[in-house]
Amino acid sequence: MNSYEIAVIPGDGIGKEVVPAALKVLEAAAQIDGGLAFKWTKFPWSCEYYLEHGRMMPSDGISTLRSFDQIFLGAVGMPDLVQDHISLWGLLIHIRREMKQAVNVRPAKLLRGLRSPLREPKDFDLVVVRENSEGEYSEIGGRIHRGPDEMAIQNAVFTRKATERVMNHAFELAKDRKGHVTSATKSNGITYSMPFWDDVFKGVCTAYPDISTSAIHIDALAAFFVMKPQIFDVIVASNLFGDILTDLGGAIMGSIGIAPAANLNLEREYPSMFEPVHGSAPDIAGKGLANPIGQIWTAKMMLDFLGYKEIGELVLAAIEDTLEAGVKTRDLGGNATTSEVTQSILDHLLNKQ
Ligand code: NAI
Ligand code: MG
Repeated sequence: MNSYEIAVIPGDGIGKEVVPAALKVLEAAAQIDGGLAFKWTKFPWSCEYYLEHGRMMPSDGISTLRSFDQIFLGAVGMPDLVQDHISLWGLLIHIRREMKQAVNVRPAKLLRGLRSPLREPKDFDLVVVRENSEGEYSEIGGRIHRGPDEMAIQNAVFTRKATERVMNHAFELAKDRKGHVTSATKSNGITYSMPFWDDVFKGVCTAYPDISTSAIHIDALAAFFVMKPQIFDVIVASNLFGDILTDLGGAIMGSIGIAPAANLNLEREYPSMFEPVHGSAPDIAGKGLANPIGQIWTAKMMLDFLGYKEIGELVLAAIEDTLEAGVKTRDLGGNATTSEVTQSILDHLLNKQ
């Protein structure tokens, strides 16, 4: 029996609704496998916790998490009561950085049974591999001269180590997919970091002669996501470019409520963190309207990372069966509740045994 210790942080808002839904699906996956088990440890770290304790997580929170195999997170945010930069930097980004989760993987795929907002969607199936530790999101810079002469500098940081790491992961993923990697660049406009990015990409390419490649400027690439997303397989991007592209990826799938993500520590020295793309959605929280699919697809990504790819595929198929049967939450044009969608996915999954 392989048993995994998972730290569960439901967070705020709909996180508290969709995380329990996804845990049910993971329990069912373990039951199907027979040799897989999970031990869940729940942590109440959230904006509510902040209002009570003055911080998003306790000061020894990182060392507590360190002993777990993986972290499964919903979303944090109560923007009316706690400023977003406090909730994001105090928990989410803190964990990503301290646990050296340097790569962020976000797939986007036209699911069976879903209507994309694209008018004539082709059958796309792509994954964006985003650098998650440096790039444009650096803490280097500053502001000077308050007032009319004010000036701000924000330095983008690109190291060979982190750039090679994220690119190598993109090529490794492409081996098991369609065998193509696209580099998101902008070396025509950004004259130091992006030519460096291109050089590192060319170097990594030579180690993977069987993978075909292309390099496309980010502006054109964003347009291609709308015009012809079916041409892509794996896209490797810097922190900012990847952030923007993956929201677009969620949008062309049909709803941000279905988009999954994984923050990976590829060296497996620290736990990785699995969390959907969406936030805590305070506008619909507590009403049973939240789409659990983003969180459940995220659970599938955790199964993949733990080495249970076959069961992961069954989970995705059960999601698609549910959509095809028309069991959809309101964001997808349906009227099913969170628990009805979850139950349907469980039924389809258990029927596949
Ligand atoms: P959001 O993703 O929470 O919501 C955007 C829109 O999408 C809303 O209309 C919401 O109802 C809808 N939506 C999101 N997920 C859905 C789901 N599963 N089912 C159905 N509809 C869904 O983004 P927003 O409104 O910008 O942020 C709300 C809070 O969440 C803020 O405090 C923000 O900082 C936080 N946030 C947290 C993230 C995280 O913890 N990873 C990521 C993004 C935002
Ligand atoms: Mg984003």
